[in-house]
Amino acid sequence: MNSVTSFTRLKSVSGPNRHSTGGRGKRKSILVSGGAGFLGSRLCGRYLEYGCRVICLDNLSTGRIGNLSHFMEDPNFSFVLHDVVDPIKIDSQIDYIFNMACPASPPKYQSDPIQTMKTNLYGAFNLLDLAGRAKARILQASTSEVYGDPEVSPQPEGYQGNVNTVGPRSCYDEGKRAAETIFHEHRECLGIDLRIARIFNAYGPGMDPEDGRVVSNFINQALAGKPITIYGDGSQTRSFCYLEDMVDGLIALMHGPATSFEPMNIGNPNEFTVAELAALVLEKIPSGSKIVHVDLPTDDPKQRRPDICRAQKHLGWFPRVNLDQGLDQTIDYFRAEAEGRHQSVPLMVR
Ligand SMILES: NC(=O)c1ccc[n+]([C@@H]2O[C@H](COP(=O)([O-])OP(=O)(O)OC[C@H]3O[C@@H](n4cnc5c(N)ncnc54)[C@H](O)[C@@H]3O)[C@@H](O)[C@H]2O)c1
Repeated sequence: MNSVTSFTRLKSVSGPNRHSTGGRGKRKSILVSGGAGFLGSRLCGRYLEYGCRVICLDNLSTGRIGNLSHFMEDPNFSFVLHDVVDPIKIDSQIDYIFNMACPASPPKYQSDPIQTMKTNLYGAFNLLDLAGRAKARILQASTSEVYGDPEVSPQPEGYQGNVNTVGPRSCYDEGKRAAETIFHEHRECLGIDLRIARIFNAYGPGMDPEDGRVVSNFINQALAGKPITIYGDGSQTRSFCYLEDMVDGLIALMHGPATSFEPMNIGNPNEFTVAELAALVLEKIPSGSKIVHVDLPTDDPKQRRPDICRAQKHLGWFPRVNLDQGLDQTIDYFRAEAEGRHQSVPLMVR
């Protein structure tokens, strides 16, 4: 599926109501908090392609203004420099809100754990307040990290997780868990129209080369001919979802049927060990990099694989891009970044 077909589906599932983005009605307005980040900037781009108005709200803590440079001249795009920890006062029409604001990379969210907690908690309250005032539908970017170091695999949404409340990852994991509760209670008590996406490891063009996540680390280490650092013995697993598939899933969830308000896993169920990922990257970038093993970080999950039956059943969504194809696109992007040829528009593989 490409962007055009996903918009067709977006229109067809939303029907002739105020949530339709197309047709003869008023142009729809989308607010993306965290819109300067990896996933948020692609969401901004998609909705601009659909002809919507897009407001990106970001404090630029991990986001890059370069991710937005190709929208800045678009009259339908506006940027608001703001921290979601503080109340949000926007009076213009808003129909849909994506709450993407929060660093996703462990080194980044661990660098200021109190700010990470505040972003997740105060940010949830402030964006839900905004959604209530604007009568907008809101989607929360939650995470597979709510499952912690899971004892079951694959992880279905009903699994309640195995999370340390006081470890180095807790500010993120527990912050996201509490945010889900805050969202849930706003639907129960105040009738806010909302969706919760549990996102599993996304990768692709647009990632920050300094991001510190495994895909960007391995590719950039290999491109530079530096050692590839594997945490532990590399037997831990991850399931990598390509950017465009992830954004398709988030958009399908936002515009999907009301039954999809339950938390929904969005990710690619194909599971790889970290050692397999390193081998694949080295096969694609034969720069002579050696593999070195370093200590496994505290609370690093041993396995990660989404059960996506709920998304398949309610949204008809599933990922289409395999790791081999997705890595080729991502390597091209990082190679261009390393050579100073910034590619702000992610490449499509479909
Ligand atoms: N990318 C993934 O694999 C993944 C996995 C699970 C969950 N998620 C969630 O998806 C969302 C986006 O992830 P991403 O990979 O694009 O991360 P990212 O770090 O690239 O983007 C996050 C954006 O939020 C902004 N931000 C952070 N704190 C903020 C604050 N207090 N106020 C305003 N803006 C703030 C940053 O500047 C950045 O632009 C995050 O909420 C993350 O937790 C991502």
